[in-house]
Amino acid sequence: MKAIQFLIGFALLALASSLASAYDPSRLQDICVAIEDPKDGGLNKPGNTTNRLGVNETEANVEQIPGLNTLGVSAFRIDYAPNGQSPPHIHPRASEILLVLEGTLYAGFVTSDNLNNTLITKVLHEGDVFVFPIGLIHFHVNIGKTSAVAYSGLNSQFPGEITIADTIFGAHPRIKPDFLAKAFQLDPNVVKDLENKFGNGN
Ligand SMILES: *[C@@H]1O[C@H](CO)[C@@H](O)[C@H](O)[C@H]1NC(C)=O
Ligand SMILES: *[C@@H]1O[C@H](CO)[C@@H](O)[C@H](O)[C@H]1NC(C)=O
Ligand SMILES: *[C@@H]1O[C@H](CO)[C@@H](O)[C@H](O)[C@H]1NC(C)=O
Repeated sequence: MKAIQFLIGFALLALASSLASAYDPSRLQDICVAIEDPKDGGLNKPGNTTNRLGVNETEANVEQIPGLNTLGVSAFRIDYAPNGQSPPHIHPRASEILLVLEGTLYAGFVTSDNLNNTLITKVLHEGDVFVFPIGLIHFHVNIGKTSAVAYSGLNSQFPGEITIADTIFGAHPRIKPDFLAKAFQLDPNVVKDLENKFGNGN
């Protein structure tokens, strides 16, 4: 079963990488000045994980490192408190390969409807990698007793992030609660409560 899950994962990755070239355009230049100030260039510092999700994602995309411009790559450092999680989200412009440096993670993604919304998961230990194909909803959770650290590489200089709960329930302006109540089969009051939690009252 695990072997099949891996094959599906890699088949999806192969498909994703053949489509991914459409996202970042071809290079127009050899290099760009990498960073103005070398102290801005590192992923060596742990992010502060004292927050609602117990996670901190430090980005290294073209906004932090202008030298990535036109190169089609970027990275993240992710720090997790025990039970910390990177909640279900999508990178609209990149596939992602996650490498665990410390700790134990549970990572997964869900295929789209033509593969029956199948959940593909794996428990990852130090040194393990896992791939999230472009455009698919994925998540990673620290299931170990200690804090955890992972790095990920993405095939876009500016991969973008759509965090499902924040995007749906925290949209500006709000999506009409009646519409979301029907879409999610929820009571409209539950939707209003979620919109209050994720939105800023607009
Ligand atoms: C992530 O960590 C940095 C550095 O400690 C901090 O400035 C930032 O506010 C943290 N982000 C979150 C979402 O907690
Ligand atoms: C981490 O963030 C929390 C909440 O904002 C803050 O109280 C704490 O001082 C921060 N820790 C460090 C090491 O900056
Ligand atoms: C999806 O589910 C349907 C109905 O259970 C089944 O006929 C079909 O073979 C499944 N497709 C895949 C790709 O698993």
